[in-house]
Amino acid sequence: MSGVGFDCGTMWLCKSEIDDIVGGANFTVERNAFLQVSSNEDTADTLKENNWSYAKYNDNYYVLGDDALKLKNMLTINMQGDNQNIIVQQVGVLRRPMKDGILNTGAEKLSVAIIQKLIANLLGKPKKENEVLCFCAPGDPVDSNLSVIFHKTMLTNFLTSLGYAVECIPEALAIIFSERPVAIDPEEGEVPFSGISFSYGSGLCNVCFAFKKLPLISFSITKSGDFIDIEAAKVAGVDVSAITRFKESKLDLNNIDPSDMREAALDIFYQNMIEHSLTHFAEKFNQLDNQIDMPLPIVIAGGTASVPGFQKLFEKILKKQKLPFNVKSVTLAENPLYTVANGCLVKALAVEGKKKAAPKKKKEKSTE
Ligand SMILES: Nc1ncnc2c1ncn2[C@@H]1O[C@H](COP(=O)(O)OP(=O)(O)OP(=O)(O)O)[C@@H](O)[C@H]1O
Ligand SMILES: [Mg+2]
Repeated sequence: MSGVGFDCGTMWLCKSEIDDIVGGANFTVERNAFLQVSSNEDTADTLKENNWSYAKYNDNYYVLGDDALKLKNMLTINMQGDNQNIIVQQVGVLRRPMKDGILNTGAEKLSVAIIQKLIANLLGKPKKENEVLCFCAPGDPVDSNLSVIFHKTMLTNFLTSLGYAVECIPEALAIIFSERPVAIDPEEGEVPFSGISFSYGSGLCNVCFAFKKLPLISFSITKSGDFIDIEAAKVAGVDVSAITRFKESKLDLNNIDPSDMREAALDIFYQNMIEHSLTHFAEKFNQLDNQIDMPLPIVIAGGTASVPGFQKLFEKILKKQKLPFNVKSVTLAENPLYTVANGCLVKALAVEGKKKAAPKKKKEKSTE
């Protein structure tokens, strides 16, 4: 079945499509990262032999995606031997084309070239001419002067050049399409695809208030997973990548050991990050002229929300906010890392469906 969803995230690129054999959505992910390796006459052969995904720019070789992290981890272990200096010179640091939810073109000159290569490898060619692809873009942050215009336009143009018919939706609206929250109108009764969604990613927290699928308000707030990792690593005196690994595999916000500096720091920065996002969220909603007179469901997704205990902490901090509406419920998406890509797929399939249902235009008769 044609139609593709694509979540272009700071840490992960995720493609979703319908698996015609198994049925249901299938997700393919690639790490949004790259690593420069030293070049000599054998570099290209070595990269090919190992089947590593790579690109070459200006005589330099770059390993892409998950392969970059694997290589980096491998060489970091080897580095502890006598050859430390030699190996340190062979690979650089793991670099990322995106930062804070958007392309990092100011600080990372290769960001556009690398992300295009990563995306082209992940998505491949459309299954048919003009297959619908829906991707998501973050909202403009309310607490910084970053603009998403370049990021969104560059991606739209590039995806179109791959042969797709491109749709773009706000990142947090994708969660509404995926999780289908239902608000209750005192007069009308159930109002499907209505509520508030939060996407806690790596660079940003994206928020959307949707009513019957329409994004009435959508914006983002800075500080999310990367912020937590960077700040906690400083406090605990460990490497950022070590704290990320610990956070993703061992952290449980329900069960913090205060004597472990990593846990204590992660707990504090998780709280700080949620407080920051909910304070800005409440401020934005309290500026609205109109009263929202129906209780609204809240749905949370994004990798940063997948740590055990996140929802409980979110609800505790939410209760302290003064909001211009009642909260009907708070739910965590079943698979927070894939929810956005799934919502993009739902939209792509809907557009494909509409295209099929539309009567084909008859060729206009010549009047001459
Ligand atoms: N099991 C886990 N526990 C805690 N954090 C996790 C877990 N899995 C992933 N993360 C964190 O989630 C973040 C990535 O989430 P996600 O893929 O939703 O972000 P993204 O879409 O790449 O970023 P953004 O939307 O900000 O551009 C990272 O900070 C990562 O460390
Ligand atoms: Mg995201």
